[in-house]
Amino acid sequence: MNAERARIVLMASGVSRGSNMRAIIAATRDGRIDGDVVGAILTRPDSPAVAMLQEHGVPVTILSPKELGEQYGTRLFETLASMRPDLICLAGYMRLLPEDVVRAYPRRILNIHPALLPKYGGKGMYGARVHEAVLAAGETESGCTVHYVDEQYDHGEILLQTKVSILPEDTPESLAQRILPMEHETYPKAIVLALARLDRSSEPR
Ligand code: GRF
Repeated sequence: MNAERARIVLMASGVSRGSNMRAIIAATRDGRIDGDVVGAILTRPDSPAVAMLQEHGVPVTILSPKELGEQYGTRLFETLASMRPDLICLAGYMRLLPEDVVRAYPRRILNIHPALLPKYGGKGMYGARVHEAVLAAGETESGCTVHYVDEQYDHGEILLQTKVSILPEDTPESLAQRILPMEHETYPKAIVLALARLDRSSEPR
């Protein structure tokens, strides 16, 4: 294992709230994660997350798929390469990553999902829809999942899950509210696991 601290890049799309990004930054600063957040890539400059990242001194790059069109994939690839990440953490990134990005960072891209994958994931399964589907199916438990990212939505190998019991009075909102703090605990732990599995000295950044 390389003695240097890991370089972590965060990514989100849409109007990102940024609570998982905040939790990851906190874990790098209080010693739970042996690494630093070296940058964040967002799709929208009007995200509340932008101010939070700037307050924490994290450099923010905005790459808008809408404005960049076909250039988006290339610009994302180049931006990531310039940041030399050991790990890329999606936190509210609702798009599929370009295939060349996925292939360039095997076992180095993570995502968090607010349900127990492989159920209740896939295209369009985000936000309240996830919790609505879980409750409609009569599940007795839900939770959150951190998984490696591949070319499909919410599909790669599962790294870590945290479970929560569903209460009879639960609504999509109450379930979301109970799961979110678990995400904030689970994501940093999964990052520690992912970094431990990487031999960072074996590949050039
Ligand atoms: C989280 O619920 C996460 O599981 C999902 O997107 C949401 C992002 O929330 N992928 P936040 O921006 O981290 O608060």
